[in-house]
Amino acid sequence: MGDKKVIFSGVQPSGDLTIGNYLGAIRNWVDLQDEYDCYYCIVDLHAITVPQVAKDLRRRTLEVLAQYMAAGLDPEKVTLFVQSHVSAHAELAWVLNCMTYMGELNRMTQFKEKSRKSEANLNAGLFTYPALMASDILLYQANAVPVGDDQKQHLELARDLANRFNNRYSDTFKIPEPLISKVGARIMDLQDPTSKMSKSSENENGYILIKDDPKTIKRKIKRAVTDSIGEVNYSDDQPGIKNMITIYSKFSGESYEEIVNKYKGEGYGKFKGDLAEVIIEGLRPVRERFEELMSNKDYLENVYNEGAKKAERVARKTLSKVYRKTGFIKRKY
Ligand code: AMP
Ligand code: TRP
Repeated sequence: MGDKKVIFSGVQPSGDLTIGNYLGAIRNWVDLQDEYDCYYCIVDLHAITVPQVAKDLRRRTLEVLAQYMAAGLDPEKVTLFVQSHVSAHAELAWVLNCMTYMGELNRMTQFKEKSRKSEANLNAGLFTYPALMASDILLYQANAVPVGDDQKQHLELARDLANRFNNRYSDTFKIPEPLISKVGARIMDLQDPTSKMSKSSENENGYILIKDDPKTIKRKIKRAVTDSIGEVNYSDDQPGIKNMITIYSKFSGESYEEIVNKYKGEGYGKFKGDLAEVIIEGLRPVRERFEELMSNKDYLENVYNEGAKKAERVARKTLSKVYRKTGFIKRKY
C-alpha cells in the first residue's frame, strides 16, 4: 500500500442511495480500488447538519455501508468506515474552523441553497460544514477526491485551508486534487429530467433506489415523464427519453446508437418495459448481495470496526502534527 496514491471520498447517510449514486459515483470508486489506497467514509457527522431521526440515521448508516460493499467495494482492498468513529475528524475540523473566514463560508453555494430551504432551522453546523469536509480529506493526506460538480467549491476550500496551514506553520498537508468522473454521466430525475436524480427529492417516482424491488422499478419507469414525439431518440429535445437511454446504456453496456436502432418504429411502451428489465437485472446481484449483508450484521460490524482502526492510525498521525505546530502542549500520561 505504501506508495500508492491516496483517495478519499464520502457519502452522507441522509437518504437511501439511488441509481444516480450507483452509476455516477460508487461504480467509479470500484474501478479505483486496485490502483489507489482508498478511504470511503460514511459521513454521519455531516448528515446531522439537517435534522435526522436517530433510528433512521442508524439504519441508513449501516445500509450505506452494505450498499458500498454490494456494489463491489472490497473491504480487503479499501478502508470503509464511519466518520463519527474517528474523533480526529471533529478535532481537526475545530482547528480548521478557526482558520476559515466567514466570507469564505458565506460564498458557498450549497450553504446558500440549503439555507434557503430551511430558513427556520438554520444551525451553525450547516455553515461550517465545509471545514469538516476539509478535515476529512486532509487527515488522510489524500491526493485525489472523486466528487461530483456540486462539491468542487468545497474541495477548493479544502485546498485553500491546506495551503493556509502549510504557509502559516510549515508543510503539513498534501494539497488534494478533484477527480471528476471520467464517464461524466449525470442521471436525471424521472419526473423532472432537467434536474439531477437525488435521494433527497420530494417525489419518490423521480428516483430509483438501489434497494427498490422489481415491482417498484417497473412502476417508476412506467410513470417516467416522456414527450409527445413518440420516437426513441437521443436528443436534447427529448430530455426524459435521453435520460432513459443513458440509464439503459450504463446498465446494459450497449451504445446509444445501438439502443436507438433497436427501438426504431416502436413506441415508448416497449422501450420502457425493456428498460425496467435491464435495470432490474443490473441491480439484481447488487440487491441480493445487499440483503445478504444486511442479514449479517456481525460481518458489517467487523468491517466498520477494522476500517475505523486503520483510519484512526492515519488520522491521529496527522492530527498530532497539527496540534504540535498549533502550539498545543502534549499530554504526558
Ligand atoms: P449525494 O447523493 O448528492 O450526496 O452525492 C453522492 C455522490 O453521488 C456524489 O459523488 C455525486 O456526484 C454522485 N451523484 C449523486 N447523484 C447523482 C446523479 N443523479 N448522477 C450522477 N452522479 C450522482
Ligand atoms: N459533502 C459531500 C456531499 O454532500 C460528502 C462529503 C463529506 C465528502 N466529506 C467528504 C465528499 C470528503 C468527498 C470528500 O456529497
